Amino acid sequence: MHHALQKLHEETLQKIVEVNDLEGVEVLELAVLGRKQGALTALLRQLGALAPEERKRAGQRANEVKQDIERALDERRTALRAQRMAGLEEAEWMDVTLPGTPFPRGAVHPVSVAIQEIATIFARIGFLRARHPEVDSDYYAFEALHMPPGHPARDEWETFFVASAADGDQNGKQRERIVLTPHTSNGQVREMEKGYLPIRMINIGKCYRRQIDVSHVPVFHQFEGLLVDRQVTVAHLKGTLEYFVRSYFGPDRTIRLRPYHFQFTEPSFEIDISCAVCGGSGVQGGARCRLCKSGWLELGGAGMVHPKVLQAGRIDPRTHAGFAFGWGVERVLMMRHGISDIRLLYCNDLRVGGAAV
Ligand code: DAH
Repeated sequence: MHHALQKLHEETLQKIVEVNDLEGVEVLELAVLGRKQGALTALLRQLGALAPEERKRAGQRANEVKQDIERALDERRTALRAQRMAGLEEAEWMDVTLPGTPFPRGAVHPVSVAIQEIATIFARIGFLRARHPEVDSDYYAFEALHMPPGHPARDEWETFFVASAADGDQNGKQRERIVLTPHTSNGQVREMEKGYLPIRMINIGKCYRRQIDVSHVPVFHQFEGLLVDRQVTVAHLKGTLEYFVRSYFGPDRTIRLRPYHFQFTEPSFEIDISCAVCGGSGVQGGARCRLCKSGWLELGGAGMVHPKVLQAGRIDPRTHAGFAFGWGVERVLMMRHGISDIRLLYCNDLRVGGAAV
């Protein structure tokens, strides 16, 4: 009996040292002290079979062993609990002085910023932004603008035609053919067809042409202005464009109108802006200005709406007149920031949106 107790005592103390988690301590406690299957409990049950003297000594000894094991179990439990707490604390600990994870900063695309800005400038003088189809019929893109099928002026616009049922019928159904709009001027007659007057519209949208080089990409943006009212003159056109140019490029800039030709305006103009480098003189440091050579830079087209176009929009040219203009968004943006290659705007290099523009 004495031996068995001794052995159980030593083995149990050893196991207590080795056990590494709180659950293990519970299992061990059950295995030794458990009321039904505990090893020590089983030994105690055998006490009754001993002689009285022997029983007394063994009983005493068994109690000592039991208390010692209980104490060892408690100590181990306390130690393991402390360890677990320390582990948790370690997992939750963080160094608040460490710099945070840097996220790349996003930005609105420079062309979108320009569109917003242009819309805001025109809104101040009552031009409301309109949206017209960017995929439209030949009728609105050309025919309603005084360019009937086969007219040579159409060649200016290197147009993408969309394959459609009207293909192959060059004359009869030409007006139904679908184009990727090569300019925003398709919005002119569409706006007139809404049937309200006076019109003050700014249509900003995508245009498509078969072209690509430093100043042309196949998809770009234009802003198309249209004003229709009674007694509208070229002076109104000039004042409006001058207002835009000074708002967008700066108060020291000025414009000039150069006679030109568009089918949908009469008279028609190209608008030039005074050069920022030489101030419009064409001379810089005793030599010809390296940027403009003449003092002026070309901005875009404009003119007084052709009577045929007004008629297409069911407006009587005897009582009403209008002016219109169509300029490139990328073009004005590049001119303002001195960007020399339009493709930079569409190369997805984040530096273009951040540092350069
Ligand atoms: N639509 C012309 C182009 O894409 C630009 C233009 C010229 C628009 C004169 C107009 C205008 O409204 O009056 O080149």
